[in-house]
Amino acid sequence: MNILILNGSPRKQGKISSLLHEAEKSLIEKGNSVTFIDVSSIKFNFCIGCMACRSKGKCILPQDDAHKVAEEIKKCDGIIVGTPVYWGNMSGSLKSLFDRMVAVMMGESKWDIPVPLHKGKKALIITSCTTPFPFNILAAQTTKAEKALKEILGYSGFKVSKKIRLAGTKGMKEVPAKALKKAREAANLF
Ligand SMILES: Cc1cc2nc3c(=O)[nH]c(=O)nc-3n(C[C@H](O)[C@H](O)[C@H](O)COP(=O)(O)O)c2cc1C
Repeated sequence: MNILILNGSPRKQGKISSLLHEAEKSLIEKGNSVTFIDVSSIKFNFCIGCMACRSKGKCILPQDDAHKVAEEIKKCDGIIVGTPVYWGNMSGSLKSLFDRMVAVMMGESKWDIPVPLHKGKKALIITSCTTPFPFNILAAQTTKAEKALKEILGYSGFKVSKKIRLAGTKGMKEVPAKALKKAREAANLF
């Protein structure tokens, strides 16, 4: 299988990066092909809201790295999206990238009804936040970020089969073994 991993954290040694690389390792060991994209390392322009992608089926902005990501999304069989919780949401860079991905994720019928382009594919969401458990749930920190991601992935046809939640990261030196194990097991999902 061809699995795309999107890392929404700018911290290459951070919690999300560690969890995503753990999942990547185990996916490769199991014979999958993996494309790992650090969203903060690529160069792309913000969506300008022209809506041309709706009628043309592609983004008309000048060629940049977002077009390359779009090609990866088109050909993936499954996706893993990792993000730190920023203001109770996904990171801004990740959201900005998804804004550029509408054409390759969701079409529109002639009655303007959304047409998911990735039906039958699975998705895994990984989040981390400083708010400790259970307040990350009670104060809807983790869950709001997941909901925002599910909005995008769901309308695109991806089924969110699993979520990995790391809470209480303030002062946490390393990702706990239990969470790393969950990330490794994610490979069995696809
Ligand atoms: C701009 C910004 C906004 C943040 N907003 C929240 C928040 O709303 N809730 C929360 O619990 N943690 C918040 N955090 C903390 C991060 O979610 C937390 O440090 C996370 O574990 C970082 O993951 P990483 O190591 O993978 O980058 C925020 C951090 C930053 C930099």
